Amino acid sequence: MIATFNAWSIGRYGAPEVLGPVTRPLPTPGRNEIVIRIRASAVTRADGMMRAGQPRFARLFLGLRRPRRNLSGTGLSGEVIATGADVTRFAVGDAVFGEAGMNFGANASHICLDESGVLMKKPAALSHEDAAVMCDGPLTSYHFLHRLAQLRPGQTVLILGGSGSLGTAAVQIAAAAGAHVTATSSTGNTRLVSALGAARTIDYTREDFTMQPDRYDVIFDTLGVSSFAAARARLTDRGRYICPVLTLPLLGAMLKTRLTGGRRALFTAAGLQPPEILRAHLERLLAMAQAGTLSVVLDRVYPLADLIEAHRHMETGHKRGNVVVV
Ligand SMILES: NC(=O)c1ccc[n+]([C@@H]2O[C@H](COP(=O)([O-])OP(=O)(O)OC[C@H]3O[C@@H](n4cnc5c(N)ncnc54)[C@H](OP(=O)(O)O)[C@@H]3O)[C@@H](O)[C@H]2O)c1
Repeated sequence: MIATFNAWSIGRYGAPEVLGPVTRPLPTPGRNEIVIRIRASAVTRADGMMRAGQPRFARLFLGLRRPRRNLSGTGLSGEVIATGADVTRFAVGDAVFGEAGMNFGANASHICLDESGVLMKKPAALSHEDAAVMCDGPLTSYHFLHRLAQLRPGQTVLILGGSGSLGTAAVQIAAAAGAHVTATSSTGNTRLVSALGAARTIDYTREDFTMQPDRYDVIFDTLGVSSFAAARARLTDRGRYICPVLTLPLLGAMLKTRLTGGRRALFTAAGLQPPEILRAHLERLLAMAQAGTLSVVLDRVYPLADLIEAHRHMETGHKRGNVVVV
């Protein structure tokens, strides 16, 4: 067994350059833990926010002056190379994927995690690169559309930002659920978004959905580019505006619409749901991938050594789908 592993640490909050390579001793797995040799890991907007310590209120949980858990990365895919004495779900040699959650440290050569977390066996047909991002866009969008919005067949859905990590998954998940999907994108991405299952596209550089007459049962603002106030008139009478980006106006709209009923504004942190629920969602996503109704959109794949470059690209706000390091 190797004695050390390579990872990336976040010495202080800031730009991608605060990331620094580190070598750490590889822990011996505890009774319920597994050691994973990581083949691919995700570089997500959430990872960027944790590195930057933004929004600032997040530092209450992450660490006030610098990150308490200072290794970078959450989504991963790899192989089990060691197991603790009481591990029952996995064996040495299993291909696995999932997320490190608040342990962080997925942008690394190895990681040691409790088997009870959000970890699953990886089907051979799913590549490590695709599996590494399953817990970002696909899992988040599944949770928002199915659990939060309770999406039903025949409903109308507007996905704002159809070409991002959440958006590319959301278009496919909503279409597979039997919804009629409209998605916004820039001119260059309309073809991608249509191919993923959007029956109609709105080019956000030329058209404004709030100025159009259409109304939707669900508006999923994957990027927080609109607001409940702006989208309200475009919702059906009991329509849902769901958004994964928490702001004070969204929080206010959530509290207010909870009391008034009718059109609702909703937010949740998908990654903070109980692992059993997230694993059940991942089972559904794997079934979709197997059935051909969900495919991961990969934008760029970088070597682990180029994590800073991968963060810079992720932070442009214009990635198409997902970014991974291998
Ligand atoms: N609450 C939760 O549980 C949770 C979980 C995961 C992520 N998140 C959050 O979800 C957000 C979305 O993440 P993501 O990874 O999906 O983003 P992303 O992949 O970085 O989004 C990039 C995409 O957005 C498109 N875009 C940019 N401006 C747009 C606009 N005005 N209208 C429509 N499309 C636009 C870009 O297309 P063009 O280049 O064509 O402009 C690009 O393809 C992040 O803020 C992240 O932190 C929340």
